[in-house]
Amino acid sequence: MHSPTTPSVPDVFAKARGHERAAIMAAAQAADVLPYFRTLDGPALPVVRMEGAERIMLGSNNYLGLTDDPRVLAGARAALDTYGTGLTGSRLLNGTIPLHLELEERIARWMGTEAALVFTTGHQANLGVLGTILSPGDTVVVDSGDHASILDGCLLSKAKLRAFRHNRLDRLEHQLQRAANDGGGILLVVDGVFSMEGDIAPLPEIAALARRYGARLMVDEAHGAGVLGARGAGTAELFGVEDQVDLRMGTFSKSLASCGGFVAGSAEVIDFLRISSRSFLFTASAVPAAVGAALAALEVIDSPDGPPLLQAVLDNARYLRDGLEERGFAVVSAQPLGEWVPGQSDIVTPIVPVLIGDDWKAALVWKALYDAGVFVNTALHPAVPPGGALLRTSVMATHDRPTLDRALEAFSTVKAAFEAEHGPLPGPGAHA
Ligand SMILES: Cc1ncc(COP(=O)(O)O)c(C=O)c1O
Repeated sequence: MHSPTTPSVPDVFAKARGHERAAIMAAAQAADVLPYFRTLDGPALPVVRMEGAERIMLGSNNYLGLTDDPRVLAGARAALDTYGTGLTGSRLLNGTIPLHLELEERIARWMGTEAALVFTTGHQANLGVLGTILSPGDTVVVDSGDHASILDGCLLSKAKLRAFRHNRLDRLEHQLQRAANDGGGILLVVDGVFSMEGDIAPLPEIAALARRYGARLMVDEAHGAGVLGARGAGTAELFGVEDQVDLRMGTFSKSLASCGGFVAGSAEVIDFLRISSRSFLFTASAVPAAVGAALAALEVIDSPDGPPLLQAVLDNARYLRDGLEERGFAVVSAQPLGEWVPGQSDIVTPIVPVLIGDDWKAALVWKALYDAGVFVNTALHPAVPPGGALLRTSVMATHDRPTLDRALEAFSTVKAAFEAEHGPLPGPGAHA
């Protein structure tokens, strides 16, 4: 292999050699406790085949279980048959088909906005919105728990970045006060449901603060859309503040059982993004099968079958949360810190994280669960604060109770064996 021959110039590849993350991954792999890059042998279902064995899938974002719904499969197949495997071009040039436009119209109707724009992924939607709507003279205020794609979009924009501690309204207000003196426009961006902890942003208070300080508000509904609210339109719908949110971003890679992303808002802003957003213009458009599947999934949510599915995923989340707490686990609460949502006394999201604390302990418990036939996600530092390692479990509307009971039994067995050897795991009420 070629290697640089000029010793006076540092090698940009040097960082790829012997860095700390690779060493930790290698150690975890050597001990066979690495929770990442495991391979599925078949489709994403409530129970999957993974590396040669059956595992209960408590680690997907397939919240409504629509990835194998016959209507969604048919939507993907029809799009594939009509338009082929890919469009090999940007939406601007040769990459737009009627399904993209139909999907945009449908999303705008779902979100109750004037317009919507479809991106090839949700990550690109955040990059494309934030990198375009913000300018170097502006200030963007973000929650410290916001998704990485929000941070990437903010960095791309070169706007002044002001982060506040996760869901702390006093810290948010402080940053908005400072932002008001920065001299540019202000955009406040929060996740509606936070992807690792599964907790909900107190949107009524957040929207009121945005208004008080003249900030525009954008909410990332990746984990809220297709889950929360009567129409499944997300956190803003759940709280009844849809008219107070300027931009709502979402993804097709969770409840909509596909791949892609969107932003919904006023026609003026969406039309601007359509001709200015680099991650929209300079990439190939979403492939037909992905668009066809997302459209069909939206149709299911909008049909009489939608509300029972939305109800089922949240009922399953409550069942799993209560079962884990009864078995002595520390489950992170989804409750927002602000005012109560009218009519909602017990808010859950499909994300039910279990606090383990120590990274290595989390990897060991993960492996024991995996061997017992349950797949969960792990969130280790830096995805969570140091000492805040989580087993991020998540449910689907299509998990049946006997399957969830089997998973809970596995949690009990693993806990007893682990504690006998390593001492107690955090219990209910414990915090990172
Ligand atoms: C909160 C949040 N925003 C944005 C994204 C990006 O979405 P996508 O997977 O469609 O790129 C994700 C997905 O991981 C997410 O969890």
